[in-house]
Amino acid sequence: MKNSMWGGRFAAGPDQLMEEINASIEFDKRLYAQDIAGSIAHCEMLAATGIIPEEDSKTIIDGLNTIRVQIESDKFTFSRKLEDIHMNIEAALADLVGPVAGKLHTARSRNDQVATDFRLYIRDQVDVLDEQIGALMLALANKAHEHAALVMPGFTHLQSAQPVTFGHHCLAYVEMFARDRDRLKDTRKRLNVSPLGAAALAGTSFPIDREMTARALGFDAPMRNSLDAVSDRDFVLETLANASITAVHLSRLAEEIVIWSTSAFGFARLSDAFTTGSSIMPQKRNPDAAELVRAKSGRIIGALQSLLVVMKGLPLAYSKDMQEDKEPAFDALPSLSIALATMTGMIGDIEPQPRAMRKAAGAGYSTATDLADWLVQVLAMPFREAHHVTGAIVSRA
Ligand code: ARG
Repeated sequence: MKNSMWGGRFAAGPDQLMEEINASIEFDKRLYAQDIAGSIAHCEMLAATGIIPEEDSKTIIDGLNTIRVQIESDKFTFSRKLEDIHMNIEAALADLVGPVAGKLHTARSRNDQVATDFRLYIRDQVDVLDEQIGALMLALANKAHEHAALVMPGFTHLQSAQPVTFGHHCLAYVEMFARDRDRLKDTRKRLNVSPLGAAALAGTSFPIDREMTARALGFDAPMRNSLDAVSDRDFVLETLANASITAVHLSRLAEEIVIWSTSAFGFARLSDAFTTGSSIMPQKRNPDAAELVRAKSGRIIGALQSLLVVMKGLPLAYSKDMQEDKEPAFDALPSLSIALATMTGMIGDIEPQPRAMRKAAGAGYSTATDLADWLVQVLAMPFREAHHVTGAIVSRA
């Protein structure tokens, strides 16, 4: 059976394999809400500009709202033959309201449609991540406040270097996550522009109102260049790059938690809520949550890598390669989200162990630098000499 959406010039339908490699519905059905919102904005604009009659627009919008309810109540059957979310919804609309459904796609292409849908999705994800990072920062700041004066060893090369406080240590992470939020805010500003109206790549001959659709979808403005509008995926790359950096920060913190909670270090006790037991060794409390947070960074960084490689050889404007932009993001962003939530829970519960921390902070001549500084300040010794003298004292001791 030939494709009912674009099959006009085709005598036969696609090979089974063609259908299989071409279809994206299994994963892009996740964009149904964004797709319907985009279609409603487009349809209202078509009526407002007189491109389609007002009553047709009403019929189409009612139909789209019905389809949203059907999808949300699991009463919608997605079909692989209809390739993707855009054509699944349009075909369902035709079943529901008849030939008038065919007017929805006036002055539009799936190219500007999918770019719009995905921008809306990424924008939502950025907002969720921003809030979650904020919650983690608050948990870290609270821990820092609670243990502002708790002495622990500061490390370089994971060798005890100079004493610091647990509060100081926690606040280092607050700084990192503050930069992550800054980056997200910056990305959001750049991504919040509307591709709608670019159509396939060259715009449209219909007198559309791009400002109106942009405004209706909460975008700051229409995109300026139609070729760019349908071929740009920087907004996904930037978001995945930001996500990768945040994942690396989480992974470093997770690594520290794993080290702190070993019996050799004994710096921190994790709550029962964020540890697991062993099926063979009854004494064990394993920091699985921290380990999984550490591991999530792998797939998040992998998603960035994979999309960079997909994009790097593509000529302007749209190529079907770009359908491969979604799965990495659909995997990476929810992964980061659960990693952030888990880390926030762990930090809330974690109990630093003052005795072990203090003991380790005092061991290994960790205040040798202070002695050298004292020699400089009180005996007016040049620092290099003070360093040498202190080294000799450490060696004798
Ligand atoms: N499913 C497609 C995607 O995700 C929609 C755009 C299809 N456009 C096209 N010219 N075939 O990229």
